[in-house]
Amino acid sequence: MSTTPKKIGQRFTVRDIAAYKGKMPIVCITAYTAPMAEFMDHAVDILLVGDSLGMVLYGMESTLAVTLDMMIAHGAAVVRGSKHACVVVDMPFASYQASPAEAFSNCAKVLAQTGCAAVKLEGGVVMAETIAFLTARGVPVMGHVGLTPQSVHQLGGYRTRGESEAESEDLMADAKAVSEAGAFAVVVEGTVESVARAMTTSIPIPTIGIGASSACDGQVLVAEDMLGLFSTFTPKFVKRYADLGREVTSAVEAYAADVRARRFPGPEHVVAAKSKS
Ligand code: KIV
Repeated sequence: MSTTPKKIGQRFTVRDIAAYKGKMPIVCITAYTAPMAEFMDHAVDILLVGDSLGMVLYGMESTLAVTLDMMIAHGAAVVRGSKHACVVVDMPFASYQASPAEAFSNCAKVLAQTGCAAVKLEGGVVMAETIAFLTARGVPVMGHVGLTPQSVHQLGGYRTRGESEAESEDLMADAKAVSEAGAFAVVVEGTVESVARAMTTSIPIPTIGIGASSACDGQVLVAEDMLGLFSTFTPKFVKRYADLGREVTSAVEAYAADVRARRFPGPEHVVAAKSKS
């Protein structure tokens, strides 16, 4: 399979992404809306409709209250706003953990109602049976191991994983289980470099890191974090590529000042009535 970047108009498939392993770094970024998808689509391989939208767009404290309907609405918007990247949609908390059959029914809704290429779900060994059930029935799955935000209460907070030997062994088992169950790629979040490296070299599917070092096969960032549009909490691993939040504030301040001083709208912004003759 070719690893040459595809032209706009030819969407990346999950098979293209899997074939990048060991050949090309994979570029993934989150997108939640059609206009943001349009801005970023040509530059990346994967647009991830992450359930981080609960915090970033809706001001929630965690991802736990995000619903299937929210993910479907945002997933469909991102598919409509893109034509190049492989779109992956997060399955929200409580939509896939209870049983493989319930997971299939909810994943099928997401695939059918958004037009996305794949779903992502959190969990390693414990979700392997479900991932195998889904992939055997035509649902492409991206795994997610390491720091899994939907388990924030069980993990005791958003802390880096893999610092102890026991935890690094568990994480290795998680990555292997997800890969053997048929996932085409796996997000590795908040994991120490040595473990991320060991995962990357020992499983045949791409690892996509976030806070998991350059040892991974690809990287993912939350777009609003790297663009300076979300400042409630910025993890150490985020690189800021722009400060758009500041630009939004100063643009809106300038608009407010113009309205108050009656400088806006100016004559060039006014539609004159057609003369009746
Ligand atoms: O929800 C999300 O945005 C994610 C990424 C941070 C990997 O899962």
